[in-house]
Amino acid sequence: PAPVPGAEGAAQLRGQRFLIVADDTPLGRALVTRLTTLGALAARVGPDTAQLAGHTGPVDGVLHLGALAGAEQQLLPAQLTVLQELLLRGPRRLLCPRLPDDTSGIDGFVRTAAREYPDTVVRAVELDPDEPATEQAEALVGELLAPDREPVVLRTCGLRRAPVPYESPLGPPVSSGAGPASSGAAAVAALGLGPESVVVLAGGARGITARFALALAGAARCRVELLGRTPLYDGTGGHHELAHATDLPALRAALAARGGLSTAEIDREAGRVLARREIAATLAEVHDAGGRARYRALDLRDAEAVQQAVKETYATYGRIDGVVHAAGVIEDRLLAEKDPVSFERVYGTKVDGARALLSALRRLPQLPAFTVMFGSVSAVYGNRGQADYAAANDALARLGRLWRAGTGSRTVTVHWGPWAPAGAHGGMVGPELGREYARRGIELIDPEEGVLALLRELAWGEPETDEVVLTASGR
Ligand SMILES: NC(=O)c1ccc[n+]([C@@H]2O[C@H](COP(=O)([O-])OP(=O)(O)OC[C@H]3O[C@@H](n4cnc5c(N)ncnc54)[C@H](OP(=O)(O)O)[C@@H]3O)[C@@H](O)[C@H]2O)c1
Repeated sequence: PAPVPGAEGAAQLRGQRFLIVADDTPLGRALVTRLTTLGALAARVGPDTAQLAGHTGPVDGVLHLGALAGAEQQLLPAQLTVLQELLLRGPRRLLCPRLPDDTSGIDGFVRTAAREYPDTVVRAVELDPDEPATEQAEALVGELLAPDREPVVLRTCGLRRAPVPYESPLGPPVSSGAGPASSGAAAVAALGLGPESVVVLAGGARGITARFALALAGAARCRVELLGRTPLYDGTGGHHELAHATDLPALRAALAARGGLSTAEIDREAGRVLARREIAATLAEVHDAGGRARYRALDLRDAEAVQQAVKETYATYGRIDGVVHAAGVIEDRLLAEKDPVSFERVYGTKVDGARALLSALRRLPQLPAFTVMFGSVSAVYGNRGQADYAAANDALARLGRLWRAGTGSRTVTVHWGPWAPAGAHGGMVGPELGREYARRGIELIDPEEGVLALLRELAWGEPETDEVVLTASGR
């Protein structure tokens, strides 16, 4: 429960200026009426930068109603530039009301914006869809008066609440006999995975998901179907002359020696070569671990390609036991400097990817026993520079929640803290970022513990739990 502000504080709104960013809706009108009654100066403005430009001058508070407009992704990423501009104006409050089934990821976005704009109370407010506009307006006026800085507030069931993660033990039930330090083998046995099982891992041939694929292969000897962007072959039969260059500096030097490539092209090509090598290594390692792996290059945002891959996999093996959506990219920048195209890339990889995957699963004769979304702590706590990534991971979790509610199929979003970049499958946290986390006192997840934690969550976690945070150091 969060504190409820008393009505007596309403006097402080007198003379303050508010912008209601909305189309002409009942709630927009109710807000203008209510704020005007309280002596404030309230104007409604349409949700685009051209209309905003007509409303210059200082503003004390903004209510952006875009998430209530109904269409999917109405607020994000479509309203990014409007939100950027509103924040730059430095209002004391920016409220973004939404409904309980919103999947735009606005909570993750505001948690990050709140960190980047410490002088503005940035807040997502969940409204009760069954309340009339006048009561929703009253709840929002209450949020303009609330003295706390909660980035996400739920105004439903007549209550004011703020979601807070809580600690929860993770382990096998005592009766399973697996003991607290259970191995992956006990977990996959509890999950019912064996040599005939098939697990699809989107974004699974590299990084931390490759580690999970290896753990599955080792423990269950199952089949893993890996999807990623990078084509495994470059069409030239391989770069034999690069074979001796085993790390990034050596690869850069070898590519530069060829001549004719700019520095940016050298970096891109070196990245591609390393990616191909990592994928090939994963396939070999899965095999060595006792499993079977197949890799398919596709863009997870391409719904048709995803549909085809899932359909073919099911048709080939007659089953898909588990699915992991772990595809992700990061392009960190402060919100004020975020480019919409980059935002869309980061956001779309997670969100469009999840939509494509879930829509392909919906058409299968039988749903997988489990679906996992790889989320991030940035969705739960916000993280400077990651408004896109935090929104994306929050939206991902909401899609997972709706999917579980709609299908009854076990679905959990795991919001990971940072993993230690150890060994061949380092993942997103490179050595430099790893040192930065260490400097800030943030512990990194040991890769072996990370994969085991996920297996344990799937095997013994509460099936109704939609989201878990798995970190090494609390947050
Ligand atoms: N590592 C961490 O500390 C950490 C922490 C929190 C959350 N996570 C999450 O865990 C997941 C894996 O991260 P990671 O560290 O292992 O990163 P990574 O090494 O960069 O791996 C990301 C994978 O996603 C794939 N991918 C990206 N965009 C794609 C697209 N459009 N279609 C298909 N595949 C795509 C990449 O394929 P290619 O590169 O081969 O093209 C790559 O295999 C991500 O979702 C990330 O958000 C990681």
